[in-house]
Amino acid sequence: MKIAIIGSGNVGKALAKSSVKAGHKVTMTATTAEKAAEAAKATGAHAANSNQEAVTDADIVIVAVPYEKLGEVFRGLGTAVDGKVVVDVTNHINMQNPGEVLNGISNAEEIQKRHPKVHVVKAFNYSFAARMAEPSVNGTRLDGFVAGDDQAAKDKVLEFVESIGYRPIDAGPLVMARALEGMGLLIVMLQVKHSWPWQNGWKLVGPPEE
Ligand SMILES: NC(=O)c1ccc[n+]([C@@H]2O[C@H](COP(=O)([O-])OP(=O)(O)OC[C@H]3O[C@@H](n4cnc5c(N)ncnc54)[C@H](OP(=O)(O)O)[C@@H]3O)[C@@H](O)[C@H]2O)c1
Repeated sequence: MKIAIIGSGNVGKALAKSSVKAGHKVTMTATTAEKAAEAAKATGAHAANSNQEAVTDADIVIVAVPYEKLGEVFRGLGTAVDGKVVVDVTNHINMQNPGEVLNGISNAEEIQKRHPKVHVVKAFNYSFAARMAEPSVNGTRLDGFVAGDDQAAKDKVLEFVESIGYRPIDAGPLVMARALEGMGLLIVMLQVKHSWPWQNGWKLVGPPEE
């Protein structure tokens, strides 16, 4: 598949690495073409000069920027992502007041509301970047939950999630992004509270077995 990754930070680089390993053609961007080129060189991906250029012929667009940058990124993309499958990986973390995050609409639904022609899919936000680069732990595939309203878009992302090494799990409609973002918040708060090393991931055990 042709994968466009907007953002070349921890998540962008980790997903680029596992995607390239799985045989996908990956194009990345950052705030500058120089930073994108650096990340592309480190991961075996290609760099684009702009977000618009990156998404032009992409089968899947992954938006891997901070939550606060979503508005800026989508404004810049304009209609270039209409009809495209766009994966939102963002979390909105508020450690002091987690209720503020848990009570609200998800980031993914907000994007969908503002951009109704985009096929928004939620995935990866509940996983750490280290695990996105390598989604197995001691030979066990972590679960890769995927939520979205457009079944064809979701199926494409499920296929991608599996190709890079997760066990793909259809988590239901896009409203379930609220639960996935809750999982993202929880796993971050657990690392901080227990001084864990940001390496674990979500796995349902019991039937159906791997
Ligand atoms: N880190 C994790 O383990 C993790 C896990 C799950 C979910 N997430 C979520 O994933 C998202 C990214 O996290 P991260 O840790 O990768 O953040 P990060 O390391 O800070 O990277 C953010 C990237 O976004 C790029 N960016 C910002 N504005 C942009 C724009 N307008 N166009 C193109 N690129 C732009 C930055 O570019 P420059 O390099 O040029 O500054 C940077 O490469 C966040 O929403 C976070 O909540 C993170």
